Amino acid sequence: MTQQPQAKYRKDYKAPDFTITHLDLDFDLQASHTQVIAKSRVKQQVIGSDSMFLDGDGLSLKRVEINGEAWPHFEETPEGLVLTQLPTEFELLIETHIDPAANSSLEGLYLSDGAYCTQCEAEGFRRITYYLDRPDVLAKFTTKIAADKSAFPFLLSNGNKVGSGELESGRHWVQWEDPYAKPSYLFALVAGDFDRLADSFTTRSGRDVALEIFVDKGNLDRATHAMTSLKNSMKWDEDRFDLEYDLDIYMIVAVDFFNMGAMENKGLNVFNSKYVLANSDTATDTDYLGIEAVIGHEYFHNWTGNRVTCRDWFQLSLKEGLTVFRDQEFSSDLGSRAVNRIGNVRTMRGPQFAEDRSPMAHPIRPDKVIEMNNFYTLTVYEKGSEVIRMMHTLLGEVKFQKGIKLYFERHDGTAATCEDFVKAMEDASGIDLKQFRLWYSQSGTPVLDVTSVYDDESNTLTLRVKQHTPSTADQKDKQPLMIPFDVELYASDGNVIELQCNGEVVSNVLHVAESEQTFVFDNVGEQPVISMLREFSAPVTLHYAYSDEELAFLMVHARNEFARWDAGQMLLAKHIKANVIRVQAGEAVHIPEEVVDAFRGVLLSDQLDAALIAEVMQLPSENEIGGWFDVVDVDAINAVRGATKQHFANELADEFSAIYHSLKQMEYSIAHDAIGQRSLRNMCLAYLALTEQGDDIVSAHYTDSNNMTDTAAALAAANHAELASRAALMQAFSDKWQHDGLVMDKWFMLQGGNPAQGALDNVKAQMSHPAFSLKNPNRTRSLVGAFCNNNPVNFHAKDGAGYEFLSDILIQLNESNPQVASRLIDPLLKFKRFDQDRQALMRDQLERLALLDNLAKDLYEKINKALEV
Ligand code: TRP
Ligand code: ZN
Repeated sequence: MTQQPQAKYRKDYKAPDFTITHLDLDFDLQASHTQVIAKSRVKQQVIGSDSMFLDGDGLSLKRVEINGEAWPHFEETPEGLVLTQLPTEFELLIETHIDPAANSSLEGLYLSDGAYCTQCEAEGFRRITYYLDRPDVLAKFTTKIAADKSAFPFLLSNGNKVGSGELESGRHWVQWEDPYAKPSYLFALVAGDFDRLADSFTTRSGRDVALEIFVDKGNLDRATHAMTSLKNSMKWDEDRFDLEYDLDIYMIVAVDFFNMGAMENKGLNVFNSKYVLANSDTATDTDYLGIEAVIGHEYFHNWTGNRVTCRDWFQLSLKEGLTVFRDQEFSSDLGSRAVNRIGNVRTMRGPQFAEDRSPMAHPIRPDKVIEMNNFYTLTVYEKGSEVIRMMHTLLGEVKFQKGIKLYFERHDGTAATCEDFVKAMEDASGIDLKQFRLWYSQSGTPVLDVTSVYDDESNTLTLRVKQHTPSTADQKDKQPLMIPFDVELYASDGNVIELQCNGEVVSNVLHVAESEQTFVFDNVGEQPVISMLREFSAPVTLHYAYSDEELAFLMVHARNEFARWDAGQMLLAKHIKANVIRVQAGEAVHIPEEVVDAFRGVLLSDQLDAALIAEVMQLPSENEIGGWFDVVDVDAINAVRGATKQHFANELADEFSAIYHSLKQMEYSIAHDAIGQRSLRNMCLAYLALTEQGDDIVSAHYTDSNNMTDTAAALAAANHAELASRAALMQAFSDKWQHDGLVMDKWFMLQGGNPAQGALDNVKAQMSHPAFSLKNPNRTRSLVGAFCNNNPVNFHAKDGAGYEFLSDILIQLNESNPQVASRLIDPLLKFKRFDQDRQALMRDQLERLALLDNLAKDLYEKINKALEV
């Protein structure tokens, strides 16, 4: 490490001394020497200042001019360019040269698979030209692109096309103009040869918007679902949020080499092809739903992110938490609200809660950042969305929408803060959010300890709620939060007992605001069963000593589907936890018959829909189970989860088999009830794989399948049950699909997640599979990511080989793509959660990485935090 990377602090925010109001970009695209001419209109903001620092990274500077004259007063630093003796208002011209062909980081301008593409969020624009690369500098952009015409017939950028023409030696040019001022992170340029799917959308006020999706040649038939999802998004945002699209064209480009899911560049989204391409042969139902969600997410950013952007990167959750909330609502309005909520809650209770206990713990609005790319986290996105959702719960839809309206009235066209958003919600609703604001600054997962007392003389129920938030790596002391706590009471006949206080009906949403608080409900005629934290009304852990009977009761009688599912999860949690302790004491796994019966009841229920039954039957992941313990015992957890699954398979074999055979579908459709039925049928298959007929039924399922959902389910079942037929099925799949990396990702993921002994050797061998490449982030995440995250027993093998494998890979990725490296390292950071021997082995690898002399900022920040005592 030549120079220690410096941290930035939220408290140090300062508006810039100069701003840029217009930027005219001119690109001459050449693989290894692209010329970029940037002409800015610059204006002094703070009287007296006459110098300006422009961010820049890896640029070769050719020319600096001010008002048309060469400007000698500048100095290049490792981080950028200092200009001095500046006038108060001027035109700045900067010419830089860059090398897109050599750019493997996939940040800035890069050439991959024969197409040029940019990724500028968060701080990638500085790899294109020297600039005020910060989100509070909003400029109107024009972009002129020149390139070889036959190799790059499409030259795209933000806004509207305003000119084009031919050049010498087979080159051509196109010019774009974006009428909306924007920060540099929303800039995009794409040049290549694609197939184009074109459609249109007429907005509510009658404007026609051209919609264009660009995909690799030959993939046109795989873009239709993305187009449908885009039109649904545009309509939904008008209906639910009163927001209309604001340009004449909306373009999406799908690329195979992309660090994340997708990017909301104004008028020109760039997508990981995983979130665009789908047909029934290549994509699973989960893929279809993921495309709908991500297309929605990026489209919704046009208002929450682009029209109102972030003042500084510490405010990232302003756009991301809110936009995730919006995409979750979109998916819930179009599909099953309960299934969507269950998925989101699984993400919170598993990976997000784990992040809170890791060295990277941070509030949804971080205070300190070294590498911004490290803060595109589950906390900022998913917990950020939960914080918005709590406001929605406290205000209700009507007042929440009034708040949204006021937010846009106040901040449209500007760069705002999280505080601005909360203030708009507060002012529009009249509801005091003073204490609520702590959710933005306090990290960690609060714990609610609840006890209840029923008094049959006074007919009162007393709920006593204690809250505390355990210390996190970043923050020792915690204060009580304002927690919306949604409860409901049930009588033994299953009827709801109205919540009353002093004879008056009160809301189901209790306001827990102190470290200890008591709620007394009257007119409770009998000892009730209490449904708590309904809809996961706050991102907290709930502790309450439920009996098995109460949970089994709620699984049947709770009025909403989420609460039924959650009761099932709590019942499983109780017994899985007890069994882990049993196994650690050398005893056998034991699951009471009543527990199995409760799940049998769900399987046989004619009231629940298929998708929900499938969710109920899905055991919590090994990672989520690990979160229930102070020291994670991967082997005991694996043994107990496996034995529980096996026990259910044995005891419920007849039910699984009956449902499996009754649900055979003939034609593939992605209608929501068809998806639900496939999901239940494939859940049954996963259990049946563990019975005597496992090999036969799974092989037949594979052979009979007419869609990727069923095909992938057969492979997954064979993989997890370690069936004899596994090898042949995997081989057949690879033979059929090895030309298609996106499809092969499913296969690599199974290789990575293979629980069999010796799986690591196989993972290493698959790195030379013709479809694999460490240069491609999707492939890397599928194989290596799955091994490190979804294969605890093998990744945490006692000899440390799993840890060594990961750090060998990180050493390579540190050079080629630090952003991908930094996402992959997460499981290694959590070493303190394991036993002493594993801790030592994991720490060895972190120390080995810390010694690299060209350690990227991304890894530096995480490793340093992890190794700090
Ligand atoms: N803003 C993007 C989103 O929410 C995510 C994003 C941030 C991103 N940085 C990125 C995507 C880098 C790709 C590469 O969807
Ligand atoms: Zn986003």
